[in-house]
Amino acid sequence: MTTAAAKKEIWLDTDPGFDDWFAWALLEADPAVRLHGVSVVAGNAPLPLVLANAQRIHALHGWQTPLWAGAERPLVQKQVTAQDILGSTGLRTSGAALPEAATPLQAGHGVDAMIDSVRAHPGRITLLAIGPLTNVALAFAKAPELPSLLAGLVIMGGSQGAGNTTPVAEFNIYADPEAAAQVFEQAPRVPGGTRMFGLEVCRQVQGGDAHVAALRAASRGPGDRAAVFADHLDGYIGVARRRGRASAPMYDPTPVAWLAHPEWFTLQPARVEVELKGSFTRGMTVCELRVPRRAVANAEVAVAAQGDEVMAWAVEMLRGVL
Ligand code: RIB
Ligand code: CA
Repeated sequence: MTTAAAKKEIWLDTDPGFDDWFAWALLEADPAVRLHGVSVVAGNAPLPLVLANAQRIHALHGWQTPLWAGAERPLVQKQVTAQDILGSTGLRTSGAALPEAATPLQAGHGVDAMIDSVRAHPGRITLLAIGPLTNVALAFAKAPELPSLLAGLVIMGGSQGAGNTTPVAEFNIYADPEAAAQVFEQAPRVPGGTRMFGLEVCRQVQGGDAHVAALRAASRGPGDRAAVFADHLDGYIGVARRRGRASAPMYDPTPVAWLAHPEWFTLQPARVEVELKGSFTRGMTVCELRVPRRAVANAEVAVAAQGDEVMAWAVEMLRGVL
């Protein structure tokens, strides 16, 4: 008797922005994924705005995954957002706006919901964090056994070198460095391993006009899901176009593609530490790849991706459901 391949069970922590939306839509579209829940964290924009984005995205697609509000501010520092780049709502569009309809939030806090779900499914859930790590750090502090109950921890964040927010810090880490430091401290306790998808690998996955056109071609009329999604992809890529580039890095979809097709990626063991004290380097992920000679690894860092295969897969996955 053939047994159905086990589904990959995921909890998503996110700060929707468009690349978050793209990543989330891929998880919802993938029949091999069971998405247990989504917790929203302040990041690209303040919590009320990223929450509203999440609720409207959820309603647009008619998804069933339960949705919670999580942390509204970093653990220690004052809030920083990406609104200077991504606009006041954290979501840019070149045309259609997200419809107003919004899915109601689940009662309770997203951190508690994450803890409850992982405790109820010990050893089965991979935690995918594609925003600042505030919710994850709070969950690990409130439930110290949580890292050991995860099947895996996958983080979009950090970099091996230059940053995108400061010269050396990537946004998700820079937005809450204390949370990131606490999460990487717990990383070795995750039985299935912790994996970091930083700027270098995500920049090998580029979205451009051809992808906008392919998704727009799935539209059956103005204002439908495909048109709204394509207009927001176009708006997201517009940030890069205004800087003279023809395409934009698809940050958050990158780890989702690894979950589905690890064969398209190269990862290396590393020691990842988060700088907290540097006047100019706070929020930097310091990645020591000379393990075990120079340090004990606490994670794997993704260093290469077959970006064209990733984007072809991603567009095909979405065309089927938009
Ligand atoms: O640096 C890229 C990350 O910051 C992505 O997760 C994007 O959504 C923003 O949160
Ligand atoms: Ca994000």
